[in-house]
Amino acid sequence: MNETLSSVPIRKEWDIVGARQTGRNWAKDLGFGSVDQARIATAISELARNIYLYAKVGEINFERLDSVPSIGLKITARDQGPGIKEVSKVMKDGYSTSGGLGAGLPGVKRLMDEFDIESTDAGTVVTVIKWTRI
Ligand SMILES: Nc1ncnc2c1ncn2[C@@H]1O[C@H](COP(=O)(O)OP(=O)(O)O)[C@@H](O)[C@H]1O
Ligand SMILES: [Mg+2]
Repeated sequence: MNETLSSVPIRKEWDIVGARQTGRNWAKDLGFGSVDQARIATAISELARNIYLYAKVGEINFERLDSVPSIGLKITARDQGPGIKEVSKVMKDGYSTSGGLGAGLPGVKRLMDEFDIESTDAGTVVTVIKWTRI
């Protein structure tokens, strides 16, 4: 079962902070512990910052997944920006230019349980899921 929770537009730098906070709140609501809340928040920051930096505008969607006995938080970062030319290169460690806390997209993959990226010249969609521990 999938339930849409909310959607946060990313248009200005401050929206990154808002998306991060919204994601942390949903994670808390769904029963994630504080360590997972922090992991989820860091992943969202990285995805939102990528939208802001490289695509300018986009959105972050939050969904709840029910797969008894686990609950999942599914996060979809979507934009219509220029896309990523070499996704396989970007997914190798050491490519990230920012060197920030999130350590780029490979860092996002490590922080979450599931990771998927679809990128064309029409835009990028990154989908990640975290499952509650049972
Ligand atoms: N949403 C996006 N749209 C277009 N290009 C992107 C997007 N996200 C990432 N990229 C490209 O992929 C590269 C790697 O991204 P990332 O792993 O987050 O590292 P960093 O942002 O630190 O460079 C970026 O430098 C950028 O060229
Ligand atoms: Mg980045």
